[in-house]
Amino acid sequence: MSITSHLSRYSLAFLPTPVHPLPRLSEWLAHSNTQYPISNLHIWLKRDDQTGLASGGNKTRKLEFLVADALAQGCDTLITTGAIQSNHCRQTAAAAAKAGLKCELVLGGQPPAQPNGNYLLDLLFGAQVHWTTRENRLNRLAGLAEELRAAGRRPYFITYGGSDPVGAAGYALALEELREQATALGIELDAIVIPSSSGGTQAGLAAGAWALGWDVPILGISIDESQAALQAKVADLATRTAAHLGRPHRFAPADILVDASYLGAGYGVMGDLEREAIRLMARAEGILLDPVYTGRAFGGLLDIIRNRPEGFGKPFGSGTGNVLFWHTGGSPALFAYAGELVQS
Ligand SMILES: Cc1ncc(COP(=O)(O)O)c(C=O)c1O
Repeated sequence: MSITSHLSRYSLAFLPTPVHPLPRLSEWLAHSNTQYPISNLHIWLKRDDQTGLASGGNKTRKLEFLVADALAQGCDTLITTGAIQSNHCRQTAAAAAKAGLKCELVLGGQPPAQPNGNYLLDLLFGAQVHWTTRENRLNRLAGLAEELRAAGRRPYFITYGGSDPVGAAGYALALEELREQATALGIELDAIVIPSSSGGTQAGLAAGAWALGWDVPILGISIDESQAALQAKVADLATRTAAHLGRPHRFAPADILVDASYLGAGYGVMGDLEREAIRLMARAEGILLDPVYTGRAFGGLLDIIRNRPEGFGKPFGSGTGNVLFWHTGGSPALFAYAGELVQS
């Protein structure tokens, strides 16, 4: 029996998502000029960019549980918020369309002259968009919920990134899926590496690891927060998610592995780290990373492997050499960064 089988789920994703090695990239790394010799490296990719909903991504798994909850409560509209290039908003808009619900989004910033990337897709999926400042997003969302209720609608509020215990349960189930795949492939993992921002992905994986009794290191590369802040946030959400799963456990911040060395110039600002990671993955493996999350986190993983293998908690290569990067999607945002990705 699955660790989430007692929870309601609305099917949105094509599961399981594939797991496969990155042989050319692993080979390139082994032969590139590194400070530490890399003799035993096998990078694996878990393809949640291929969940199948609206260009895929990690929000699909959270939304399976959130949409089920919305339907169980008799809601008719999903409401949420994010940045203009929010993958979470795009996936929420698509999930609402598929489930026959309405979707209203509060986006931070100004409407662009020409919609593109995720924002273009929000419009295609029929979402109603409201603009406000970045700081005012949650206030505006609360006000919007009131306005919709006053108009006789039944909004279902989804927090930043779908990162509450209901949504994070999707990543507890995802870890169970991965464990079955690793067993079938006959591989042991030294570490799982993910981008971590609103924290639901990492919290769900941590709660799932606890529920499954799987002692695998799960390293979150922080996208936009200090190590201490992200550890505290993920530990709190993992604790609440474990309770939601019916497997209570109190996580301490120190239980959560976070590396915040790659914040660069801030959220959504693409630098050399992200640009090089995106190009390398594209050219070595024909796979698209994204400019905000997976580009940064995979760039961080490459740096750890090449320059600071102690970043895994134990010297790199001392275990099986199998490291899994969880591809959480986000490629639609590439199109909004065209000028920074390719010099014309
Ligand atoms: C592509 C992508 N990867 C990773 C993340 C981070 O996941 P989480 O917010 O659950 O930490 C996000 C969140 O928006 C995302 O869009």
